Amino acid sequence: MTRPRDGQALDMALARRFARYVRPYGGSIGLSLGLLFISGALDLVGPYLTKIAIDSAIPEQDTGLLLRVVAAFVVVLVLSFVTRYFQQIIVTRAGQSIMRDLRSELFAHLQRMNLPYFNANPVGRIVTRLTSDVETMNELLTSGLVSIVADVVTLVGITVILLWIDPGLALITYTVIPPLLFASFRFRKIARDGFRATRERVGRLNGVMQETFSGIEVVKLFGREGANDESFDRENTALRTAWLGVNEAFALFFPVVQVVLAVAMALVLWGGGVRVLADSLTFGELVAFLQYVQRFFLPLRDLSEKYNVLQSAMASMERIFGILDTPADEAEFDARPKLEEFGGSIEFRNVSFHYVEGEPVLKNVSFRVRPGERVALVGATGAGKSTVFSLLLGFYEPTEGSILIDGRDLRGLDPRSLRARTGTVLQDVFLFSTDVDWNVRLGDDALTAEDVDRALRSSRAERIVDGLPAGRRERLGERGRSLSVGQRQLLSFSRALARRPDLLLLDEATSSVDSETEGLIQEALHEALHGRTCLVVAHRLSTVRDADRILVFHHGVLCEQGTHDELLRERGIYHRLVQVQFGTEADVA
Ligand SMILES: Nc1ncnc2c1ncn2[C@@H]1O[C@H](COP(=O)(O)OP(=O)(O)O)[C@@H](O)[C@H]1O
Ligand SMILES: [Mg+2]
Repeated sequence: MTRPRDGQALDMALARRFARYVRPYGGSIGLSLGLLFISGALDLVGPYLTKIAIDSAIPEQDTGLLLRVVAAFVVVLVLSFVTRYFQQIIVTRAGQSIMRDLRSELFAHLQRMNLPYFNANPVGRIVTRLTSDVETMNELLTSGLVSIVADVVTLVGITVILLWIDPGLALITYTVIPPLLFASFRFRKIARDGFRATRERVGRLNGVMQETFSGIEVVKLFGREGANDESFDRENTALRTAWLGVNEAFALFFPVVQVVLAVAMALVLWGGGVRVLADSLTFGELVAFLQYVQRFFLPLRDLSEKYNVLQSAMASMERIFGILDTPADEAEFDARPKLEEFGGSIEFRNVSFHYVEGEPVLKNVSFRVRPGERVALVGATGAGKSTVFSLLLGFYEPTEGSILIDGRDLRGLDPRSLRARTGTVLQDVFLFSTDVDWNVRLGDDALTAEDVDRALRSSRAERIVDGLPAGRRERLGERGRSLSVGQRQLLSFSRALARRPDLLLLDEATSSVDSETEGLIQEALHEALHGRTCLVVAHRLSTVRDADRILVFHHGVLCEQGTHDELLRERGIYHRLVQVQFGTEADVA
């Protein structure tokens, strides 16, 4: 599935798989094909009616016949209009339904992928899969596959009719096919490469804009506007150049087709005219022939376009199915037993871990946390503290060793059931652009208004929320930007407490909150967390000192553990950390 596909227009395995999505709408697609067949056939009638009018009705001065021919002409037009209208409606409806199904399946699948997938795939690329790749599949259905049927009907029908009217003249017409196909396939190749280049340029231009505006404060602080103008101009000009290239191909292609068509018409006119003069062809037949020739060339001209649609749809399909074939970890989680009750004991047994092969982040880490214990993790930035939490929550699996929850290996448990009993404040606080209430509940209707109140009170976020114009209904900006960093942390704290978790994981949860508020939170936590297990990453001495036990991490190694006093006495890394981080406070302690 990962082999690059350039130039291949039809892969049966992919097509069969796509057919599974089409099948539920098979009736609609079938009906639409039938209607296309009819409208293709109706298109063949017009020139023949012209021939009857010219060869029979007019010379014989048969007004009745002429009227009937005109009436038939109108009826055919109306029928053709009606069939095309319904065909379009039906196929679009089926196409949109198939896209909706695909998008839902992709979204649901992606949401259940575990974090390594999102580390490897930028959000922008994932969003593209969900939007433009799905859109390409729709194009395949509505303008590719289905209309090829109409084209085939037209081409075969006209070929037969031309041969039937005058085989010699028909052969003259066919001589123009090779140059026409050649020109059109060449053009499509240039156009496709050009479009690909413009898409890439648009992506880069968007990248520059997105980064500039997301980081607008830094841009202004460091006066980067001028330099940004320059890099924008470079990308902007490159986009213009890319478009000009595409345009040149278009400017050339249509006139060339026009010329080829004109040559064909001239040949037919010459050959046909000679035959009319020699009485081997009627005047009406010649007129009809000319009309058929014109209709014959349009599908030929567009054939290469359809080939391209097919080609890019195959590439999109491959990417989409590639995602669906990447196993979602949560599907595997479903098969594992759930943690029905959490006693509160945790053990890391010889755990080693790396995100990137060859760059170990945790090295042979072993520790135990007893039920109800309050453990602090300390260590320099990058020591691996947050990673301990990620492993415990099942975001990643240890590369070696195991994590035991109440004595059971986490690998044999559904980590979602542990997450459900855990209140976590991550180092990167993420609030959604909904209101405060929703951000605390996260859409969990089982939580009552009292639960939310209690959580806001315990985390000391109550005063902040009451100060907002709309209170609990206040809508937060994107990622909660309308609040200060400390305020965001407090809300995220409320979120963790609202569910009355058995286990609390706090990763620098109050690092941006003032000391006084933090002190108040500590007090509230003492009550709220009575008898609950709690792991805290903190830099403030007040938080660390109160812990039952302190784990000291250094470059991914758990090098010291014990109480504050024990560790100070050891005069090791903790002692140094305390001196550096808390200065004279250490002496006081
Ligand atoms: N998603 C990731 N991919 C690759 N490396 C990572 C990732 N997250 C963290 N790291 C690396 O792992 C190491 C430990 O990170 P982390 O556990 O966040 O440290 P701490 O929380 O102690 O500051 C760091 O060197 C960091 O660069
Ligand atoms: Mg961290």
